[in-house]
Amino acid sequence: MTMDATRQRFLMCRPTYFAVDYAINPWMDPTAPVDADLAIRQWEQLRQTYLDLGHEVELIDPVAGLPDMVFAANGGTVIDGHAMAVQFRDPQRADEAPAYRAWFEAAGFEMYDPKHVNEGEGDVLLVGDHLLAGTGFRTAHASHAQLQEVFGYPVITMQLVDPRFYHLDTALTVLDERTVAYLPEAFSPGSRAVLRRLFPIAIQATMADAEVLGLNAVSDGRTVVLPAQATDLAAKLRDRGYQTIGIDLSELRKAGGGPKCCTLRLRQGKASK
Ligand code: ARG
Repeated sequence: MTMDATRQRFLMCRPTYFAVDYAINPWMDPTAPVDADLAIRQWEQLRQTYLDLGHEVELIDPVAGLPDMVFAANGGTVIDGHAMAVQFRDPQRADEAPAYRAWFEAAGFEMYDPKHVNEGEGDVLLVGDHLLAGTGFRTAHASHAQLQEVFGYPVITMQLVDPRFYHLDTALTVLDERTVAYLPEAFSPGSRAVLRRLFPIAIQATMADAEVLGLNAVSDGRTVVLPAQATDLAAKLRDRGYQTIGIDLSELRKAGGGPKCCTLRLRQGKASK
């Protein structure tokens, strides 16, 4: 089977000031050691992997005092040249929002401001012509209506139920325009039923894969970049004809983040999608 890769444009933020200084999700333990230099080397490897795959990587300057700014997926949602800024649930991350907003504005995107808590592509994932929007821990349900108004894609609410999988992108990966991989246990019964209805051929991941943040992966439609430890998921993906590249992001995982968290997709107009 041959699958077409789509060249992607990503925004990333070097983890220059990365640390685990506070705990806003169950992965974060401020008393556990973090190797900050290793975090940077691992992140560089992720960036290089994207470049080797032919993708474009834009960089936003990290800001001192914002240790989670490396998680660029939470910086906004960018579709068809429209950028919706974010509003974080936790005060520790609040100052990241204006930094990302300024970057989008300077890059020429049409800006929209959030009216409710909205943690960007961490909770908002485009699959074909549908937007899947997570809620339960971070992004407010009320923001889903605004997402539909701003982007004009039907928004489907996904109710997250396990605090370890607090952002939608920790529980579900978009593989291409037609399908996804996900951890059923991370979703409410109703959301599971919706996922089965929308994506009958989806890959169901195991708890072992999800516990190494295996679903926090980035696919270009042909190659899936995922945490190196998610070996079962990688095997299932290869069975389906995807190529896989495993990346070790052990240090960033101590903050609850993986490859997708570090990566915001910048979608220009439809034509250059
Ligand atoms: N420590 C960060 C937080 O809890 C991790 C964010 C991970 N980002 C993501 N897109 N899942 O907010």
